[in-house]
Amino acid sequence: LHDRQAIVAIDGPAGAGKSTVARLVARELGLMYLDTGAMYRAVTWLLRDRDIPLDDEAAVAEVVAEAEIRLQVPDDDPQAPCPVWINDRDVTEAIRSLDVTAHVSAVAALGCVRRYLLKQQQRYGRQGGVVAEGRDIGTHVFPDAELKIFLTASVEERARRRHQDLADRGEGQIGLERLARDLQERDRKDSTREIAPLTKAPDAIEIETDGLSIEQVVRAIVDRYRDRHL
Ligand code: DC
Repeated sequence: LHDRQAIVAIDGPAGAGKSTVARLVARELGLMYLDTGAMYRAVTWLLRDRDIPLDDEAAVAEVVAEAEIRLQVPDDDPQAPCPVWINDRDVTEAIRSLDVTAHVSAVAALGCVRRYLLKQQQRYGRQGGVVAEGRDIGTHVFPDAELKIFLTASVEERARRRHQDLADRGEGQIGLERLARDLQERDRKDSTREIAPLTKAPDAIEIETDGLSIEQVVRAIVDRYRDRHL
């Protein structure tokens, strides 16, 4: 028995609704929210900003070694972006750009990046009490998490949600087909990389969210948590 608070791990493909759901679950359970994708995005932003070739691991490792990422506690509004800083630059908006999204999977495949972020993520969870969201949380970051959820949805549904998100931000001009293709391409890269690929942990509960509202998904996870007396 350990005396740390529980950890909830939420993994799944791009656009399955992990961020919104994880934030609402964290709020309802009074736990901290940890967006690990934002950390990979912040590193990607920094590498692109400095024009570092992503296939030059030595150059990448040098930049990563001096990268300091700060995730701020999110606003109460679960739709509001979570403040993210790298080396004292506020990159909250910048890490959601098309350029970062297009390159983040290549960066997330690099061993030096993953080793560095893994350590930081595990430090956030040392005392437990977090809802962590990503691709390898239940398999690598917190393999002992008390509750593991694998969120999925059909590619059509995920493209529709991404389209809605973009439209809400005034960027609705990218077509559904292109969005679906981009999602699938990112999933392919994230699930076929050598280190810590996207995969469902054997002890994770899979929730297929097509046709479910955000509230229903949140309720399902919170109920599981309470059922286990965590
Ligand atoms: O969840 P997101 O779209 O913000 O994640 C961006 C990318 O970061 C995702 O395509 C793969 C990578 N990632 C990862 O490799 N491992 C994680 N735990 C989280 C994200």
